[in-house]
Amino acid sequence: MTAAPGPAAVPRANTTAATPEEFHQRVIGDAAAAVRGLTVAIGERLGLYRALAEHGPVTPAGLAEHACIDRRYAEEWLHAQLSAGYVEHCRGTDRYALPAQHAAVLADPKAPTFTAGFFTALRALYATEDALVEAYRSGEGVGWAEHDPCLDTGMGSFFQPTYEHKLVPEWLPALEGVTDKLAAGGKVADVGCGVGHTTLLMARAFPQATVHGFDYSAEAIGLARQLAEEEGLSDRVTFEVATADDYPGQDYDLVTLFNCLHDMGDPGATARHVHKSLHPRGTWMLVESNACPEDVCCDCAPAGKMFMSLSAVMCLPVAVAQDGPHALGNHSGEEAFRSIAADAGFTHWRRAVESTAQIVYEARP
Ligand SMILES: C[S@@+](CC[C@H](N)C(=O)[O-])C[C@H]1O[C@@H](n2cnc3c(N)ncnc32)[C@H](O)[C@@H]1O
Repeated sequence: MTAAPGPAAVPRANTTAATPEEFHQRVIGDAAAAVRGLTVAIGERLGLYRALAEHGPVTPAGLAEHACIDRRYAEEWLHAQLSAGYVEHCRGTDRYALPAQHAAVLADPKAPTFTAGFFTALRALYATEDALVEAYRSGEGVGWAEHDPCLDTGMGSFFQPTYEHKLVPEWLPALEGVTDKLAAGGKVADVGCGVGHTTLLMARAFPQATVHGFDYSAEAIGLARQLAEEEGLSDRVTFEVATADDYPGQDYDLVTLFNCLHDMGDPGATARHVHKSLHPRGTWMLVESNACPEDVCCDCAPAGKMFMSLSAVMCLPVAVAQDGPHALGNHSGEEAFRSIAADAGFTHWRRAVESTAQIVYEARP
């Protein structure tokens, strides 16, 4: 296999003109956001945003009572949310409200814009700081298993709203002939499935299909099995600990990799295994971030900024820890994936559908 291109392009410089004071204030704003992240995780875990959405406008004492927390902490947490513009203060009262449009981002896990869940992964990411400092010096990696399991659930929450609203209605129908096969009872492997949100969505939408989820994280697979049980889907979905270049099964009609090929140290070996495990008329669905090396600049979209930072502290170190030949990072771009697929024997490649944050590629043998 020829070497897959990594993110070799030279990033463009940050050309935003700012006075030293403006830049100083901007970085202080980033520092505030970094600390605020912890208040969002706390709010999500304790149901504070949900309590505000349900019972607001509320006083700190009211929030404390509804969410079963201490009143002084409720007050201080509300001040942090107010300073961020996340909640509003009702003039002339001691009450705070979460506007409906903010509730869709912070309080409603079913909304396509729900984002609060991601913040619960910060604990896992920040806790690897020592290991990352060491890895940056040595060139070694920081494996997925070196993180607290809240990385599995937090990252799962990050992508879940998009999957929930796009996978079945938009992405699968964008692939040629796939939904017909699944409706008739096809066989699916969801590789690097994490806690299994995508696996379960496909199993629920296509009751005749058999869906297998594979991930090398035992914690993630344990949580996925639990979710399948809770959703009553254990009869048609299985979850197994397996690596992407060695999962069991043959003649899959569809093999999916959602936001994980770039986390693998040897994406070429994964692509070859996908090719081998597919039915000759099967489809490989690859979902990756809609970011590429040319996007590395200061004015990329918020999702792009998020991907770039995640790559530096999670995606790249996780891939490096797998000792493979290509640690891609999460914004290596379409050409890297296309050439990995071609080298593995895929003859058909298509950008099936895309949004600002994600691209769905279709590859066939
Ligand atoms: C960013 S998460 C995405 C999880 C899930 N696909 C989703 O979209 O929610 C990346 C996943 O890849 C898994 N992973 C990384 N390297 C792997 C490998 N070599 N084999 C199997 N799974 C792997 C991790 O355990 C993690 O669950």
